[in-house]
Amino acid sequence: MDSGPPTQTEPAASATGAGTTIIVCISCRDATGSDAHPRAGEKLAEDARRAAAGLPVEVRTAECLGNCKRRLSASILSEGAWSYVFGDLTEDCGADLVAGASLLADADDGKIPWRGRPDSLKRGLVARIPPLTLLKDRS
Ligand code: FES
Repeated sequence: MDSGPPTQTEPAASATGAGTTIIVCISCRDATGSDAHPRAGEKLAEDARRAAAGLPVEVRTAECLGNCKRRLSASILSEGAWSYVFGDLTEDCGADLVAGASLLADADDGKIPWRGRPDSLKRGLVARIPPLTLLKDRS
């Protein structure tokens, strides 16, 4: 998990207040695996849209994030910041995703801090990916 101290310390573009984007997979099914519509992923996307109303957080959708085995899935992206993929979400995790997006927007190091992160985004973390601008393995 990513509970350790940050290893990259350069300020991220998100620290300037730029908005963040949540991408929700709308193809993910509920626990029964039903093909019924709206799918559980569509309900999560709608819940996230409600939670993001009036905030500088955009909610977009995709048809598969390649995380199908971890059930309801979403990602949080922000220019110049680390990107996150989450799974094991529920239809009512929209506010958690928006909270994570807001934490990322305010983060000085371009990472969603562990402290204050909703539990669903702790348990459900699948991966985090650094932006190319923060890679230090070569110049
Ligand atoms: S169907 Fe949702 S991640 Fe693949």
